[in-house]
Amino acid sequence: MHILGIETSCDETAAAVVTDGREIRSNIVASQIELHAKYGGIVPELASRQHVEAINYIVDQAMDEAGVRFDELTAIAVTNRPGLIGALLVGVAAAKSLAYCHNLPLLGINHVEGHIYANFMEHQALSFPHICLTVSGGHTLLVEVQEGWRYEILGTTQDDAAGEAYDKVAQYLGLGFPGGKVIDDLAKEGDSDAIRFPRPMLERDNYQFSFSGIKTAVRFFIEKARDAETLPAVADIAASFQAAVVDVLVGKTVRAAKAKNAKAITLTGGVAANRQLRESMRRAGEEFGAEVYYPRIQLCTDNGAMIAGVAYQKYQEGLRDTLDLNAYASGSIV
Ligand code: KG4
Ligand code: ZN
Repeated sequence: MHILGIETSCDETAAAVVTDGREIRSNIVASQIELHAKYGGIVPELASRQHVEAINYIVDQAMDEAGVRFDELTAIAVTNRPGLIGALLVGVAAAKSLAYCHNLPLLGINHVEGHIYANFMEHQALSFPHICLTVSGGHTLLVEVQEGWRYEILGTTQDDAAGEAYDKVAQYLGLGFPGGKVIDDLAKEGDSDAIRFPRPMLERDNYQFSFSGIKTAVRFFIEKARDAETLPAVADIAASFQAAVVDVLVGKTVRAAKAKNAKAITLTGGVAANRQLRESMRRAGEEFGAEVYYPRIQLCTDNGAMIAGVAYQKYQEGLRDTLDLNAYASGSIV
């Protein structure tokens, strides 16, 4: 069963063809990073316009590379929530047109479910229930994933997403946008004990996160140290900030995994590309017998394959949307 998955919820125009929910025949992603970098963040209107320019080419490329014709597709899936509304609408309009022209079923998919599904596409051994941490520029979500793709939301962020904190701190340090990868690289060279930044909510007996406090603490620290001309090496600030974020993410996830007696933990979303997060989670999981999984980087960040993958499950459950399908800026997975 071949499904075309389309994803335009943020700043990546993406399309993929996936067979039977796991076999990735093509996975094309056009990033808009260069367009937004000069503004220090994503400009929603520019994102929508760029999606309009790119979407037809990206879909054609995904179909060509997969070697699959439209009449061989079983369905067309598209991210329709949550995300930037104008950006989502471009993908939804494209998917609807294609579904209409080729007389194919249409499925609207939740972007976060896509991120959660990404691990399942790669790891045959992944069992249920498992604990999934989704961390990206827009999401921080801790979920128990149960047999049959049922979810129990355990915690989320009360303010900024983890990736947002990375991007803001990179901006304070003059490292450009987006900041996750740069901070990850710099942190390797720095001393993570140089500065003790706060670990918000870590000691609280719940699964909630908060990253705005860490972000502000870094900003105040930089401003004060600059005034006093005592600014330490940028690598030390990056390493100390990253240590605080990773401590919180690992601490909360491990607490949930223990409470739920989970034998597996999965990481997904752009921040799951972070080497220290992967390594610290793996070590923490090993200590109490939970296997830790994360997908390859192209499946961590936004892509169409994860959308086609979720759609495979939903199609079998009987989900079919009509040409009235709309886009929504928000939308829970439960
Ligand atoms: O999943 P994604 O591509 O888009 C969203 O849905 O947001 O995630 C992008 C986020 C950005 O905030 C970026 O700074 C962060 O993921 N990121 C990283 C790393 N690579 C990307 N954060 C930490 N370490 C990384 N290596
Ligand atoms: Zn995402």
